[in-house]
Amino acid sequence: MLTLEGVSKAYKVGTFGGKELPAVQNVSFEVAPGEVVSLIGESGSGKTTVGKMILRLIGITAGRISLDGNDISAIKGHDLKAYYRKVQGVFQDPFSSFNPMFKADHVLGMMRDEYFPGISAAAWASKVEGSLESVSLNPGQVLNKYPHQLSGGQLQRLLIARALLLEIEILVADEIISMLDASTRIDVVNLLGDLKARGLGILFITHDLSLGNYISERTVILRQGRIVEMGATPAVFGRPLHPYTRMLIESVPQVHQKWEPIDVGIGAATGWAPATTEPCLYHGARPGGGTTAAPGGPAGLARPGLAEVEDGHFVGCVQFNPDGTCGGRPA
Ligand SMILES: Nc1ncnc2c1ncn2[C@@H]1O[C@H](COP(=O)(O)OP(=O)(O)O)[C@@H](O)[C@H]1O
Ligand SMILES: [Mg+2]
Repeated sequence: MLTLEGVSKAYKVGTFGGKELPAVQNVSFEVAPGEVVSLIGESGSGKTTVGKMILRLIGITAGRISLDGNDISAIKGHDLKAYYRKVQGVFQDPFSSFNPMFKADHVLGMMRDEYFPGISAAAWASKVEGSLESVSLNPGQVLNKYPHQLSGGQLQRLLIARALLLEIEILVADEIISMLDASTRIDVVNLLGDLKARGLGILFITHDLSLGNYISERTVILRQGRIVEMGATPAVFGRPLHPYTRMLIESVPQVHQKWEPIDVGIGAATGWAPATTEPCLYHGARPGGGTTAAPGGPAGLARPGLAEVEDGHFVGCVQFNPDGTCGGRPA
């Protein structure tokens, strides 16, 4: 189980790095084995930053990321390598993920040098064959090719195959479908479904609500670096609580799921913009809400800024104070 607890990232920006850009703030969620969690948000909401922190490509500013209870923020050397055996990522643009000078077999061969130094040639060949077949790639058709000789869908699958050479437990998939054309999209979506069935936990990062709705068990909605809503996918899509979630869902015509507007007292569900005077509806109204752990949340896991409105369905503050506390309850 991959767990994020109160994770934040502030990038140093400005000429001398003197300013900080809070890209991700106080994000907490888990990805369990055999589960697809979609992390949905508009461009710039902090999705890739979350993925990179999980993959240790960038450090975290605050909070804790752990795999099966072990904090991964400071691990090095052997421990970090052991972590990468379990957690791998595939990123948006398959073309830029490959060195154009290397053929596919070389790309996979680098994994051999790194993780399987003692393996025999025959054992390696069968491992490669197995992982390519599990992503429906024909080894004979791809191994001897340069990236530009492969399609976007093939490259994306090759990246997944590379991750599958290791017996990973968690795959971070950042916008991996966005770049593909419609006919390859469904193949990769189905592949993710197969991987899930084999017990892999997948963090499916996307700006595409309908894909997230289709593929995931749980949904986390990110806005400006904060979680505004999360829960079981049918609950988030069927009974969206936060005005921002409603606005997102309403603005995507291809979401093939109906939802009935329900009155949660925030006024019109459309055209919502952050109010400057509106108190946070949920935390002000719900006992046990506020900036501490929400009732019924996982033991010991604080959900700052999130209230649990129904079982496992969390909604974030509608209004934050300047110091980041909930607007309904100034600290
Ligand atoms: N290396 C970086 N340095 C400074 N700011 C960054 C860096 N990477 C991302 N950002 C900023 O952080 C915010 C979140 O970016 P990102 O995580 O890429 O969002 P998303 O993947 O949702 O589009 C954006 O405002 C982006 O401009
Ligand atoms: Mg991104």
